[in-house]
Amino acid sequence: MNDMTKIERAIEMNDMKISAKGVQVYYGDTHAIKDVSVEIEDKTVTAFIGPSGCGKSTFLRCLNRMNDTIDICRVEGDILLDGEDIYDKRVDPVQLRAKVGMVFQKPNPFPKSIYDNIAYGPRIHGLAKNKAELDEIVEKSLRRGAIWDEVKDRLHAPGTGLSGGQQQRLCIARAVATEPEVLLMDEPCSALDPIATAQVEELIDELRQSYSVVIVTHSMQQAARVSQKTAFFHLGNLVEYDDTTKIFTNPEDPRTESYITGRIG
Ligand SMILES: Nc1ncnc2c1ncn2[C@@H]1O[C@H](COP(=O)(O)OP(=O)(O)OP(=O)(O)O)[C@@H](O)[C@H]1O
Ligand SMILES: [Mg+2]
Repeated sequence: MNDMTKIERAIEMNDMKISAKGVQVYYGDTHAIKDVSVEIEDKTVTAFIGPSGCGKSTFLRCLNRMNDTIDICRVEGDILLDGEDIYDKRVDPVQLRAKVGMVFQKPNPFPKSIYDNIAYGPRIHGLAKNKAELDEIVEKSLRRGAIWDEVKDRLHAPGTGLSGGQQQRLCIARAVATEPEVLLMDEPCSALDPIATAQVEELIDELRQSYSVVIVTHSMQQAARVSQKTAFFHLGNLVEYDDTTKIFTNPEDPRTESYITGRIG
C-alpha cells in the first residue's frame, strides 16, 4: 500500500464501481442496516453472506434503490455509482435500475413471450432503432444468458412455460439486455437443481468479464466458488469484507469464523 504511486492508487480507486458510506436502513423502528461502508469493485463477483435476517437483501436493494418501493423503509448515508450519488433527486430510479440490474430469488419472467421478456427493457429505454436491431439485442442477451440454444426455436412461446432453471437464465438474459453495469442477484440459485445451479454459476463467472456482480447466497460453497470478494453480515452490521479466500481460510473476526464453520446461522 505504502509504495503505491499516486497514479496506481487513482487507478485502483477507478476500479471501485460502487462506494457505500455510512449506510443505515430502517423499516419503521427496526434498524436493519447499521452504518455499513463498502467498496464494490468493477469486474468482480462480490458475495454477501450471513445468517437469515442479517440484512443481506436489504443492503443489496439499497444499491439500485429497490427499497424505494417499500413504504416504511428509510435509507440514510451515501451510495455512489462511478462517483455519482444514486439517491440524488435528479437520478431517475428507472434509469438507475437499467444500469444496476437485479435478478431475484424466484424466477419471475413476465407473462409474455420469451422474445418480449427480453425486448421489454430495450424497448422502454429506446436501445433499438428498428426490429432488426431489437432482434439482435434479443439474440445477444439470450446467448449471454446461456439459454439461446434452448429457446431459439420457440421465441414466441411464453417465458413462463420454461423450466425453473431456464426461467432463471431467461431472467438473467432480461437483466443483461439493457446493458447494465452492475448485476445484483439475490439468491439466484435457491430454486434451482444442481445442474441449473452449475449453469448459472458458470454464467456468473462469464458476466464478471463485463460487469460487477453482487450475489447474495446462503451457500458458502457457492460463495467460495463464484466470488472474489466476500462480505459477511451479522445483525445488520458488515462484520468483515475481504478477499473470498481470506474470509474462508483465515477470517479476522470470530463471528465470521463461527459462521463459516457452522456455529452461527
Ligand atoms: N419489508 C420489510 N418490512 C419490515 N421489515 C423488514 C422488511 N424486509 C426486511 N425486514 C427486516 O429487516 C431485517 C433484514 O432483513 P433482510 O431481508 O435484509 O435479511 P436477509 O439477510 O436477506 O435474510 P434472508 O437470508 O432470510 O433472506 C430483518 O429483521 C427483517 O425482518
Ligand atoms: Mg434475503
